[in-house]
Amino acid sequence: MKPTYQDALAYFGVSGAHPGGLTLTKFLLEQEKITTHTTLLDGGCGTGQTSAYIKKNYPCAVTSIDYHPTMVQRAKERFKKENLSIQLVQGSLEKMPFPSNSFDIILIESVLIFTNCRNSLAEIKRVLKPGGILLLLEMTAERSLHAIEHQNMCEVYGIEKVYTEKEWIDLMKEAGFPKVEIKLGHSVFSHMMTGMEKEDEAIDRTVPTNVQLESKLMDHSYILYTYGDIIGYRVYRASL
Ligand SMILES: C[S@@+](CC[C@H](N)C(=O)[O-])C[C@H]1O[C@@H](n2cnc3c(N)ncnc32)[C@H](O)[C@@H]1O
Repeated sequence: MKPTYQDALAYFGVSGAHPGGLTLTKFLLEQEKITTHTTLLDGGCGTGQTSAYIKKNYPCAVTSIDYHPTMVQRAKERFKKENLSIQLVQGSLEKMPFPSNSFDIILIESVLIFTNCRNSLAEIKRVLKPGGILLLLEMTAERSLHAIEHQNMCEVYGIEKVYTEKEWIDLMKEAGFPKVEIKLGHSVFSHMMTGMEKEDEAIDRTVPTNVQLESKLMDHSYILYTYGDIIGYRVYRASL
């Protein structure tokens, strides 16, 4: 089977694999009430950078889930090395092994587009407690994309669809989130102008060269530079 963009992220252990990196994550968390009673899920935790940051800086219980075995292994090693008590689970956002009403906050950074969004949102709603909050940072089209633009992006990322802001909001409303607000948003190019540098973006330089997987990361750069004015990201905050 051909390797995917996500295989490349996992192989090279790319941390902070979302726009704004840990800097943006910190900014978003500062605005939430997180106490000793808070239960927080990092959905699609990747190498576990965000989960580790939260556990070290907030008194809440942290659970992390990711689908990719290599990412789970990387997160496991990080939590062990840093001696962090985080519940780590390998599984899909589309069918989570958690009881209903488990979490106060679910943070998802650049993950949902890789999943069946309707299934994932239904699951997220199920495992969120009443009054819970979903913080969702996702790639968003700045306008409806032409067929070829859409096809090029979907091919590189191995995804089915690039959603516009309205489509994201509609999806969340359909899933039963009555209140959806946009905390922040930029096109790729306008994000570059914000000076919001990627902090602690890390890549594992100890793995052997793999040209096929490197080319997947280059395809990603190509998309950002070619379509930087028509795609970007939004941070959606949805509550129940
Ligand atoms: C772009 S990375 C983002 C990782 C992390 N949130 C970060 O910001 O560094 C996407 C992550 O989503 C995970 N993922 C993809 N599909 C998933 C699914 N159905 N359920 C859970 N995680 C998934 C991938 O394994 C990968 O770690």
